[in-house]
Amino acid sequence: MNLRSAHALLAGLTLTASFAASAGANAPSAPDPLAYSQVIHPFLDIFCFDCHNADTRKGDINLEDLVDVGRADHDGRRTWELVHRQLRAGAMPPDREDQPTPEERAEVVSLLHQRLIHIDLSKPVDSGRVTARRFNRTE
Ligand code: HEC
Repeated sequence: MNLRSAHALLAGLTLTASFAASAGANAPSAPDPLAYSQVIHPFLDIFCFDCHNADTRKGDINLEDLVDVGRADHDGRRTWELVHRQLRAGAMPPDREDQPTPEERAEVVSLLHQRLIHIDLSKPVDSGRVTARRFNRTE
């Protein structure tokens, strides 16, 4: 509970920063921790874990062991960025597999976007390093 409250507090502080930074655009609200267990994780469970678990690491990506974006280490955040990109582009799940509805996809993309924005704002230097590493490890 302590960690959660600390996280909520941090999220609140970051929220203030993002209001200042987004100047008039739809300001993102603080990431809802429950959205991870209630929306994001179940979504990945249905559409992604078959191919991206600790055993079948397709594309060298294990999504099953990921923790929510705010608690992820650098590698985890890099993976979340890839997940966000793949979902937004409609590239995952692969065409021949069961697809989420456009609404389900859009909701998860939006929730991840919200989370990644908070990370980027609070740790600009880290996200730069994450970007550099992504290109080396995609090979
Ligand atoms: C049927 C198996 C399968 C399913 C289901 C699947 N993937 Fe993949 N995924 C792959 C394969 C194979 C690759 C590596 C080759 C490629 O990029 O197409 C991959 C690659 C990836 C990558 C790495 C892309 C990169 O830029 O390196 C990400 C991120 C990813 N998948 C996310 C997801 C997400 C999120 C879902 C669920 C919405 C999902 N995948 C569902 C098979 C799957």
